[in-house]
Order: sequence, then structure tokens, then C-alpha cells
Amino acid sequence: MRSLQMNVNGDPVEAAAPDHWTLLEVLRYRLGLTGSKQGCDKGDCGACTVLLDGRPVLSCLTLAATAAEREVVTIEGLAPAQLREDGSRLDPIQDAFDRCGALQCGFCQPGMMLSARALCRDVPEPSREQIRSALSGNLCRCTGYTQIVQAVETAIAERVGAEPPAAPWESELAADRAAQASEEGA
Ligand code: FES
Ligand code: FES
Repeated sequence: MRSLQMNVNGDPVEAAAPDHWTLLEVLRYRLGLTGSKQGCDKGDCGACTVLLDGRPVLSCLTLAATAAEREVVTIEGLAPAQLREDGSRLDPIQDAFDRCGALQCGFCQPGMMLSARALCRDVPEPSREQIRSALSGNLCRCTGYTQIVQAVETAIAERVGAEPPAAPWESELAADRAAQASEEGA
């Protein structure tokens, strides 16, 4: 058993846990932060993603001891941080996911949003390919990903005051229609 001190979502915390426990186990079973999901528990699904010193990590593969004296952000920390920053109810990524309907069961969402959060901080205006790449470690069994990508693009566009790009399915639909029209004209 060891006593760990970390900063979680802006607050200093202390938790006692067995040496072999992961960061995910400490967050969920010592600190009661169950937003980080225990999906596969072996590094495959990304549902346990949290930010450790600002970088996305799989908390199911991160020994809790390695987070000692470091800063951890979980999904529970996003909205309060935004509230402190500008009085908004939700972080812009959470808000865009909500408005774009980018979720169904919601299981993947905490990890997905934290990966997106890290991308938005690191890359001011990521391309669609960069967004897909940043989220490639976060699996969603429900949505098909299109609204998720649209939500991230919407949050980014709104941040820089630009018009959100067309949703992925809109450009695919336009390409299908163009191909069909060209076949009919041939
Ligand atoms: S629970 Fe950590 S990657 Fe699936
Ligand atoms: S919304 Fe169900 S797993 Fe993504």
C-alpha cells in the first residue's frame, strides 16, 4: 500500500492504494471519479483516457504511482474548469458533442472528449485527418464516428470564429451525387 498525492481536476488529493493499482483504479475506486470508464482494461478501447500533465494517457495501463505529484484531468474536471475560466456551463468540446448529437450510449465519450481536448490545445486548427488520427485510439461501438468528428470540427471552427465545415456525410453525399450524375451523363 502506498499513499499518493496528486492534483486531480485542479484540487490536491491524497489516496492510499496497493502498489500495483492503476491510475484508473485509484480514480474510480478511491476518488469516486467514475467518468473514466473501465472498458477493456488492457489498452484497446481508450475509454479510460485521462490527461496526465496535459497529455492523454490510458489510465488502465498507467500505474497510479507514476501519477504521483502530477496533474490529472478527468472528464469531471472539464466543465468546472470552463466555469472558472469564463462562466460557461460546459467545456466547448462537451458543448459541441452535445449539440452535434455525437453520442449514443455515452461510454466512449469521456475518453473521446479528453483526447479531443488535448488535440485542440496542441493544434490550433487541426485538419479532419488530424482529428481522426488523434481519436484513433478511442473506439466507439455506437455512433460510426461521423458526428464525433463533426463535433470536434464545430468546436474548433467556433473557437476561431469560422463557419463549421460541412459534416463528413454531407461531402460524401455530394461526391456520391456527383459520381451518379456523371454516370448518368456518360
Ligand atoms: S479501459 Fe483502458 S484502453 Fe480500454
Ligand atoms: S456512444 Fe456508445 S460507445 Fe460511443
